[in-house]
Amino acid sequence: MEQKFSPSVDRPLTMLKYCPAYETTPILEIKSAGSFRILVKDETERMGLGSFKALGGIYAVAQFLIQKWFEEKQSRLSPEHLTDKSIEAWTSAVTFVCASAGNHGIAVAKGAQLFSAKCRVHLSQSVPKDFEHQLVSLGAEIVKSGTTYEESVEIAKQDAIKSSSVLLSDSSWPGYLHLPALIMEGYTVMAEEMRAEFAKNGNWPTHVFLQAGVGGIAAALTFEMRDKWAQQPKVIVVEPAAAPCLHASIQQGKITTVTGPVSVMGRLDCKRPSLIAFNVLKELADKFVVISEDDAEQAKDYFREQNLETTTSGAAGLAAVLKHEELDITLSASDKVLVIATEGSFT
Ligand SMILES: Cc1ncc(COP(=O)(O)O)c(C=O)c1O
Repeated sequence: MEQKFSPSVDRPLTMLKYCPAYETTPILEIKSAGSFRILVKDETERMGLGSFKALGGIYAVAQFLIQKWFEEKQSRLSPEHLTDKSIEAWTSAVTFVCASAGNHGIAVAKGAQLFSAKCRVHLSQSVPKDFEHQLVSLGAEIVKSGTTYEESVEIAKQDAIKSSSVLLSDSSWPGYLHLPALIMEGYTVMAEEMRAEFAKNGNWPTHVFLQAGVGGIAAALTFEMRDKWAQQPKVIVVEPAAAPCLHASIQQGKITTVTGPVSVMGRLDCKRPSLIAFNVLKELADKFVVISEDDAEQAKDYFREQNLETTTSGAAGLAAVLKHEELDITLSASDKVLVIATEGSFT
């Protein structure tokens, strides 16, 4: 039996109390491209690391260490003691290994650095150089592995087995669910921040457009919105036409690997979805759409005109809003759409 995704947003929120870099990210309103309104959850500066992924990787590193401590010592290690000098010898014996399109690696590397553990990140050829520099400055070892994200994931898996390290992937598959679920539990904080704000100002969106790579962010937010939001929006999952792995999996009714060219939306260029994400989204999302490379470029420019600097991956949700008619989505004057600018620009 596959375990159900059942996150508790209070766990990452409790841990974030000890994080001086944590604050709620803003929700902005930008100029509309129609009669409806457009709200943007701005993740471009999240915790000084430039993307929402900071909420997942750091939290999962911390939770892993706390759980390992408990298993080994049968005593509780509270989050404020994770950075104690006295446990440094113990944490520094742990190495986290992951593959990344960029941001997940940065989150894991930051977590490892904060808690004096080690980190090795596998990057495929397509990952921009800027990520390499950031990873090195966070003390991570980087390995160039394969030409695609999927190849780097396979190499990271083998590395973790051979080196007895901890594989901390943001995707999941049969038999590998616990750590990716923790990462996604970290992302649910975004939905809670938005719930708190909408509960105060009454600005509940009618439609939420969520971009997907392996589907972790889309599934975590959708789960939390369905569970806790007083007013329910339609959820539209957005993928590059070059990597429509969730779209194809939903159509086939099972996890499906797609083929396609390399996408300009580098962080969404995943050809196989996360099992947890697929299971959540097939139940809770309303629609799955794909956008072109040009659509994403136009959305990035649209954001720039509104003084919001992001990338094509960060603008993919907005791209689907701008193309809503072609995608057979009706938006009217009473509608408020919400998109997430998932990362800042780095060039
Ligand atoms: C900026 C950005 N947006 C969106 C995504 C997609 O997230 P997921 O792979 O959880 O679907 C990623 C993933 O790395 C990302 O870095």
